Amino acid sequence: MTGFSNRQLLLKQRPHGRPGPECYEWRESRTAAPADGELLVRNLYLSLDPAIRGWMDDAPSYMPPIPVGSVMRGTTIARVIESRCDGFLPGDIVQGLNGWEDYSITPGAGFTAKVPLELKRPLTNFLSVLGPTGLTAYFGLIDVGRPQRGETVLVSGAAGAVGSIVGQIAAILGCHAVGIAGGAQKCSWLTEQLGFDAAIDYKREAGLGAAIQAACPDGVDVYFDNVGGPLLESVLANINERARLLMCGAISGYNAVEPPPGPRNLWQLIVKSARLEGFLIKSYLGRWAEGRAQMAAWLDAGLIKHREHVDRGLENAPQSFLRLFDGNHDGKLIVDIAGKEAP
Ligand SMILES: NC(=O)c1ccc[n+]([C@@H]2O[C@H](COP(=O)([O-])OP(=O)(O)OC[C@H]3O[C@@H](n4cnc5c(N)ncnc54)[C@H](OP(=O)(O)O)[C@@H]3O)[C@@H](O)[C@H]2O)c1
Repeated sequence: MTGFSNRQLLLKQRPHGRPGPECYEWRESRTAAPADGELLVRNLYLSLDPAIRGWMDDAPSYMPPIPVGSVMRGTTIARVIESRCDGFLPGDIVQGLNGWEDYSITPGAGFTAKVPLELKRPLTNFLSVLGPTGLTAYFGLIDVGRPQRGETVLVSGAAGAVGSIVGQIAAILGCHAVGIAGGAQKCSWLTEQLGFDAAIDYKREAGLGAAIQAACPDGVDVYFDNVGGPLLESVLANINERARLLMCGAISGYNAVEPPPGPRNLWQLIVKSARLEGFLIKSYLGRWAEGRAQMAAWLDAGLIKHREHVDRGLENAPQSFLRLFDGNHDGKLIVDIAGKEAP
């Protein structure tokens, strides 16, 4: 028999609400040889991202839905086993949009790139602070939010992979950094360890508008929204003239069966001459190296801290994925697929 034994998690059916075990099925197959321009890679670490939940639905988005019966899609760090693509050799460590599987056949172009091992960082960092989530924070805040020294930056999902970096960059830039997160422990991590000026526990605060007003006494200049939903209404009530509201994510609605109601005070954008703008990290692939260099410099200088929550075993990926919706993880959520095989 040729090829390697490959465990693959397939999308069995589209979720209705939370993606439970009924949504997945296993297939065990043998790897094929890569075609011209392709690589066969051994997946080492799988990034579990809220966006995957959107790809499980049959809904128009920036990526096609995962077809039912196909391998679940996800970003991985992987080792090249066989290359039929110029510029890649067996043994290279790469990052790419692959699958929830032990091995993937992947094009040596597009999302696939070599991991810059010269930065001498743990491989998982290239899925977190030096990878898509860290760079989402960086480009979203710097390019779209455009915070100025002394302004107030408010971020939701603030203890998560993206949000925790957003607040720290805001603090580095001399802004008043305020986070909204679920639970006292997460909130004290933000203010005591990460340099946020204030944190709001949305699970405890009955009146979020008043809590935002208290934590942002000069009003909100930049809102980095990772959560969506009714929170926006409370934020809109507190924005300043020319505020920039950045829609990065809307995780509070990803499992919703009915679309959530829209904010009733959107007209505040008119009153304050404010801007509400969507953002996608995939528009910044061409500037990846620039953002990563800045993030690495801040990391080296001890100005940015981050956490990674690594669950072991591909077989646990479906259960682990649910942590994103329960908040039951600290920092970037990753699955270690290969265990001791990882360098
Ligand atoms: N636009 C882009 O290109 C881009 C790129 C990457 C990520 N994103 C988006 O950015 C957001 C954060 O992603 P991430 O990877 O950093 O995930 P994450 O923040 O590390 O994890 C998700 C967090 O969302 C919070 N959450 C879950 N359900 C919630 C609810 N109903 N209300 C309020 N908070 C809830 C939980 O934190 P608590 O414990 O605090 O509730 C959970 O820990 C997501 O919406 C994602 O889709 C967008």
